[in-house]
Amino acid sequence: MKKNTILLSLIAVPFLIGCGSDSSDTLTNTQPTATSKISGTVPGTLIEAFCEDGTYVQVSSTQNGTNQHPFEIEVPQNTNCRLVMTTNEYNDTTRVITPIGFIHGTVTGSTISLSGDINLSHIPLELDYTNVSDSDGNHVVDNDHYVNLNNATNASVNSTSVFDMNRNGYIDVYEDDDNNGRVNAYEDDDNDGRYNIHDDDDDDKYPDYIEDDDNDDKYNYQDDDDDNSYPDYIEDYDNDGKPNYLDDDDNDDYPDYIQDHDNDGKPNYLDDDYDDDDDYNDYNDYDDNYISSGGTTATAKLFSTDVMPILINNCKSCHGTAGNFTITSASETYTNIMSLNYGTSNKDRAEYMKDKGDGDYRHGGGDKLNDTEYNTLESWIYGGAMNN
Ligand code: HEC
Repeated sequence: MKKNTILLSLIAVPFLIGCGSDSSDTLTNTQPTATSKISGTVPGTLIEAFCEDGTYVQVSSTQNGTNQHPFEIEVPQNTNCRLVMTTNEYNDTTRVITPIGFIHGTVTGSTISLSGDINLSHIPLELDYTNVSDSDGNHVVDNDHYVNLNNATNASVNSTSVFDMNRNGYIDVYEDDDNNGRVNAYEDDDNDGRYNIHDDDDDDKYPDYIEDDDNDDKYNYQDDDDDNSYPDYIEDYDNDGKPNYLDDDDNDDYPDYIQDHDNDGKPNYLDDDYDDDDDYNDYNDYDDNYISSGGTTATAKLFSTDVMPILINNCKSCHGTAGNFTITSASETYTNIMSLNYGTSNKDRAEYMKDKGDGDYRHGGGDKLNDTEYNTLESWIYGGAMNN
């Protein structure tokens, strides 16, 4: 039977996220109709833009042999964007993460909105971590580094909260939820040797950890609906070596774990209709069936036409007419199964019968079922173990 073993190291995600409904709470990677370019030079730096419409962009400055590396980052027009620039980014002890602030005439603010391209000239970011003020030691400097826009007409400055689901005024990914001195962006949730910020296994130009696979307004890395202290997206529910968010066995370009195979409004990984006391969601139990049916959702099997022939062919020779599990007519056989002394529900008893026949339970008759037969029984049970 499948187990959803946790393969990955523990990262605690200890806070609650408010679920507002305005645009800054959604993570849809909107394709803006028009974009503007922000350019300038910096010391060797990663540059990120977090925009109010959900757009996230990152670029690295270009090494050109000087200490003023050019960069260009394209952001959507007429939406407020916050810029963050990081020097020494691959070094956990010297990394300096600098949020950028803007001065526009008499206005100062943390976000910029553009209606055309803008050049910020040289931004002399700090390279020496020991020179910066960082009271909480998370490598995000305490104060924004201000850039003067010199009254540029195609820019306006604001202080809008962006990528801030918990509404505390900080970009969520540059908080340190588990208080280990490392901000969320530089954790490695899936333990693949790449920081979250650079981990884009599904190649959509959006770091996996800040996507919202199940559209519930929580970033993947904060989404732990099964409450086991691991983000759901990096777990491997079917234990096939692929984390949930990359697992698309039915090849429909949608991670299987957030689909709703039985269409009951609950995603597979939270669906426990089939209470078989194994503490795993239906998706795991149903997974064999699901996959063996060629990647389409298997239809529920019927007792009289699907299950009975299997029992007659594989079990009747020993479970003929004597004993407490006997195979006779369909209706009598059903009654006999439901009289088995196991569990509390029809599904429990049917599951027990199946596990006996498969030798999962110590069985005098050994393993009598092949995969297809096993899956047929599983599907019938999944559908309610009805007398149908
Ligand atoms: C080769 C003979 C043989 C075959 C074939 C066989 N069984 Fe059994 N089965 C036994 C024996 C012997 C026992 C009693 C010992 C035990 O419980 O394991 C038993 C017990 C059971 C029980 C337990 C009944 C109870 O009262 O708890 C179930 C359920 C069961 N078998 C299901 C099946 C199913 C389903 C199949 C077909 C897929 C099957 N068996 C095929 C020999 C067989």
